[in-house]
Amino acid sequence: MMIEVLSVNRVSNSIRNLPKITSFLLPEEYELLPNTSELFEMEFAFYEYKFLTKDEIVKRGAFFKSVDGFPTNHYIICSNNSPLIWQGRSETTKAYFKEGNFSTGYATHGLFPYRGKFHPQLIKGILNILKVQRGDIVLDPMCGSGTLNVEASLIGIDSIGIEKSPFCVLMSKVKYEALKVGSPQLSSVVNNMQKNYESLINSKKLPAEFSYHDGFKAEKTVTLLAFLDAMGYSRRCSKSIDVLFPSVLKRYVGQINSFIQARDKLNLRIGNARFEIGDTRNLPLENSSIDAIITSPPYSFAIDYAENDRPQLEYLECDVSAIKDEMIGLKGKTRKDKLANYFEDMNKVLFEMSRILKVGKYAVIIIGSNDIQTGGIRLETKVEEMALKHSFVLDQKIVKPIKGIQNTMKDEYILFLRRV
Ligand SMILES: C[S@@+](CC[C@H](N)C(=O)[O-])C[C@H]1O[C@@H](n2cnc3c(N)ncnc32)[C@H](O)[C@@H]1O
Repeated sequence: MMIEVLSVNRVSNSIRNLPKITSFLLPEEYELLPNTSELFEMEFAFYEYKFLTKDEIVKRGAFFKSVDGFPTNHYIICSNNSPLIWQGRSETTKAYFKEGNFSTGYATHGLFPYRGKFHPQLIKGILNILKVQRGDIVLDPMCGSGTLNVEASLIGIDSIGIEKSPFCVLMSKVKYEALKVGSPQLSSVVNNMQKNYESLINSKKLPAEFSYHDGFKAEKTVTLLAFLDAMGYSRRCSKSIDVLFPSVLKRYVGQINSFIQARDKLNLRIGNARFEIGDTRNLPLENSSIDAIITSPPYSFAIDYAENDRPQLEYLECDVSAIKDEMIGLKGKTRKDKLANYFEDMNKVLFEMSRILKVGKYAVIIIGSNDIQTGGIRLETKVEEMALKHSFVLDQKIVKPIKGIQNTMKDEYILFLRRV
């Protein structure tokens, strides 16, 4: 149909009346978000238009500004972003955040800049394509900073996050729990900033009152994450933590505050999430208990997650070598050994994902390869082949360019694997 239209009007003698490419994809009452220009974004917008009703797009769509003139929740949440996210940052970082206003920096995603995190808007788009509904449980078995969990919660879906790194579990908890805080809790973060900072800085290890394992106390746990963020930042830029901490914490509070204003205006119901320290090769979950998995395995040939977070892990009294031994992709001296171990581990991960997923449901794996680091081996091709041996079929594969300040990969692949 589209080919027909294009060929009928192929020759045109004026640019004046040329239709926009989006008019071939979407009726005019569907307005895309500003800066929607990449091919994969058009693809996702088109799928949302195909799979969701107009009302659903307003409530949970990720790529639209409005439908029939009604602004979407996504647009309202992102429009409320706090300018604090880029204040005091370098010009490159500012430009990155401004460009990512509708795709990466909204809600609580910007609280800790975890390297290799998902593109949040894309995750919402995937949840929509998978038609995940209230009552379903979605899982990220290598949840990193909890991006999937935050996105699921924003559209009222319950989720689980499993991670090897306790620091990631802390980060995910803060990003999720902060979606639910009230203004009085935020005020106590600000009012007790100096007192809490002194407890943290004067102690070599985590003071007991900041324990983050059970329950959630915004004043302590948000402050702890900001402290660990400032600690890492101060090592990278050689500025004093005394100077950095107050601005990091104020940025956190500003961002959370902007989100909760939008949340209350839209009367959002936040889905539940729980997080556990665990190993994705041996998941603490029942057979056939999960409705969707969205995950991205470590880009271990590009990032050593344990080493990257060493100062924070040590402050949290974690045994970094023990964590490293169990992290996927880090084992082995030579590149050949590393790859062999990586595939052996990924085989176990695929077995586990197949075991816990309900039949007919999807595991979506987002994976990139850097040919130079892997000696020409494409990780996504190998993972795709292995998945077929664990009762998965590949229903769709979408390519997405990787944007970011520091990345060593150009593209990543989104593999839609259906459990049969
Ligand atoms: C690409 S990152 C995931 C980022 C995440 N999607 C996000 O949005 O923040 C991969 C994660 O896998 C975790 N990981 C590595 N080995 C693991 C294992 N054996 N079990 C659980 N998690 C593991 C790493 O700590 C890292 O956070």
